[in-house]
Amino acid sequence: MSLPLKIDIGKFAHVNGAERRRQCFRGPHVEAQARTSQRIFMIPVAKAKLLEGKRGLIGGIANEQSIAWGCAKAFRAFGAELAVTYLNDKAKKYVEPLAHELQAPILMPLDVRTPGQMEAVFERIAKDWGKLDFVVHSIAFSPKDALQGRVVDVSREGFLTTMEVSCWTFIRMAHLAEPLMRKGGTLFTMTYYGSQMVVKNYNIMGVAKAALESAVHYIAAELGPKGIRVHAISPGPLATRAASGIPEFDALLDKAKAKAPARSLVSIEDVGVATAFLAHDAARLITGETLYIDGGYHIMD
Ligand SMILES: NC(=O)c1ccc[n+]([C@@H]2O[C@H](COP(=O)([O-])OP(=O)(O)OC[C@H]3O[C@@H](n4cnc5c(N)ncnc54)[C@H](O)[C@@H]3O)[C@@H](O)[C@H]2O)c1
Repeated sequence: MSLPLKIDIGKFAHVNGAERRRQCFRGPHVEAQARTSQRIFMIPVAKAKLLEGKRGLIGGIANEQSIAWGCAKAFRAFGAELAVTYLNDKAKKYVEPLAHELQAPILMPLDVRTPGQMEAVFERIAKDWGKLDFVVHSIAFSPKDALQGRVVDVSREGFLTTMEVSCWTFIRMAHLAEPLMRKGGTLFTMTYYGSQMVVKNYNIMGVAKAALESAVHYIAAELGPKGIRVHAISPGPLATRAASGIPEFDALLDKAKAKAPARSLVSIEDVGVATAFLAHDAARLITGETLYIDGGYHIMD
């Protein structure tokens, strides 16, 4: 069962001029508890609907541990309307109840390696909404042989698949989102510290994340004049399905907790709230960032 989002009322209450700070949020309350597949999912209630009227695409929810789910919960709590994708039929049974909980009016399959599926998602958004305010790309994949081997040994195929799924698809999403963001918008992708430093067992994914962060810079420069902002979000380690492909991940978690100034691991809810903030108009002059949500780990030697 996912935990309710905890939000510091004082930090957000003044943003949209709420009459009384204490009334701004009622969280962490439970807005709805849908009993789906014998599980209860909770979307927190934020009384300040800071993202009301905004519509966004969330790609990369696999289950309720996914970082994309943490983002979706936060965006929805702040009043945004969401389009959600799932990888394939196998994933659909996990994602559909979550999309239902989000009251997502658009739920579509998206395997980024299947030609035409990404285009179909954006065509549907164009048809139903005619605009898009944000995109969360929370998608990465590397074949086991590539991920778990040395970078110096990676095959051409392993390299290309890793780069295609984990980097190029963000570039493509930005390309397809651009015409729908006529009044500006925000594009997000998920990265990791292993792009900057050699992290044991992160291997070829570190190379892909470095390319991804560079793409964020270039696209931020290219689309900035149109009011489109672009960010990489860099969470500390989280025990998700994608993370289960990384050997000795528990040791990474222990190290993160011990070394981070905050002496704490992050949660998907922490990542979601910080990402949602960057989609708010108050953050309109922040772009091209790699935002570390890691308890300060990245500043330590
Ligand atoms: N878990 C961590 O410690 C951590 C830390 C920093 C960054 N990240 C990044 O966060 C993002 C989300 O990962 P997560 O940890 O939430 O794991 P996750 O397994 O919940 O999410 C990964 C998602 O990628 C999707 N995906 C993989 N191949 C795809 C394809 N061909 N088409 C469409 N979707 C595809 C999966 O379906 C899944 O929804 C990834 O980019 C990951 O690298 C994770």
